[in-house]
Amino acid sequence: MRMSRGVRIGIAGTGFIGAVHARSARLAGARLVGVAASSPQSARIAAAALEAERAFDSAEELVESPDVDVVHICTPNNIHVPLAEAALAAGKHVICEKPLALDAASAASLTATAAASGRIAAVPFVYRYHATAREARERVASGATGPLRLIHGSYLQDWLLRPHDDNWRVDEDLGGASRAFADIGSHWCDLAEFVSGHRITRVCARTVTALPERYRSEAHAAFQSVNGHGTARPVTTEDVAIVQFETDRGAVGTTVISQVSAGRKNRLLLELDGAHEALEFNQEEPESLWVGTREHVKLIKRDPESLSDAARPYATLPGGHPQGYGDCFDAFVGEVYRAATGGDVAAGLPTFSDGLRAATLTDAVLASAREQRWVDVTSPSPVFI
Ligand SMILES: NC(=O)c1ccc[n+]([C@@H]2O[C@H](COP(=O)([O-])OP(=O)(O)OC[C@H]3O[C@@H](n4cnc5c(N)ncnc54)[C@H](O)[C@@H]3O)[C@@H](O)[C@H]2O)c1
Repeated sequence: MRMSRGVRIGIAGTGFIGAVHARSARLAGARLVGVAASSPQSARIAAAALEAERAFDSAEELVESPDVDVVHICTPNNIHVPLAEAALAAGKHVICEKPLALDAASAASLTATAAASGRIAAVPFVYRYHATAREARERVASGATGPLRLIHGSYLQDWLLRPHDDNWRVDEDLGGASRAFADIGSHWCDLAEFVSGHRITRVCARTVTALPERYRSEAHAAFQSVNGHGTARPVTTEDVAIVQFETDRGAVGTTVISQVSAGRKNRLLLELDGAHEALEFNQEEPESLWVGTREHVKLIKRDPESLSDAARPYATLPGGHPQGYGDCFDAFVGEVYRAATGGDVAAGLPTFSDGLRAATLTDAVLASAREQRWVDVTSPSPVFI
């Protein structure tokens, strides 16, 4: 952590997640040199709110600035690739939000560019940083859980439940052809593969656009999530994805991804059924990991004293003092800065290769849903960095 103190960072995109990045960056001792937003004026407002040293007129100017060592790309999805390419070309380390790209081909090309650059190129699949998710991973890897037979779960939200709920993600041009799956299904698959050690090899998917019309508002154009009162327009991106899959190590599974499930705010649930025990991780209640055997069920608490060596580093507070999403981001950003300033690249740091993996799965899910058949998950060109 000490090495990375004073690392100079810039954040492009200052909405929900840009502010989360800024907080974690500050905690890691970085200098927030500047921010860029959708206009020079909104960048100035954001710079004041986030206490950045300056506002850049554009994201393009920020990613090339000689004053910045690490670029955080927190913009709408459609400009992730050009901004990340420009940042890498300018010699920057890059944290780019998911989805890395709007399709697997452009994610593969960007990942290859990142690998050739020798820079750190990371994607915030931050649910990996819950100590109880690491504990589940360790139980599977150590053999305690036994060979996995079934991997299942869901990622449910309700913020797009109603026709007047609006956001740039709804628009294919800004968010990409997949909405719910690319936005949150990507997180579920990343965590499922990370914890299980399995790779999804085939998918059979169905997508549903529960609300075929939504109301666009002017605030939507200004990149704010709002209740739109404007004109009704057709929606082409999915609200729901249901995916059945097989893995390379003989497990089968399902996941249900939804942004229209009332009362569910951010409920990522992952269950792994092995020959000896089952494990359940719930992102909204990450203080314990449920472990079931036929005779007993138990909860492993996120207590440094009872966790394995693999999970303990992510339990930064004593048991009974809850940690959550923000702590995951802090751990992720800390690992990126350490690697970017000459420290080790931590095992499990999610990189552009993982972003490419998510884009590949998204393409397969869309193809399966469109063609109503099983589709093999094949990466355009796997590149590991
Ligand atoms: N890793 C995670 O857990 C996580 C969580 C939420 C969002 N995200 C990702 O972060 C990204 C942003 O999502 P959000 O929820 O913060 O969206 P948001 O709508 O809250 O914020 C988007 C921001 O981008 C800015 N912006 C728009 N066009 C821009 C441009 N041309 N140049 C610079 N800035 C521009 C807007 O002004 C706004 O500040 C998305 O890709 C999303 O998938 C990731």
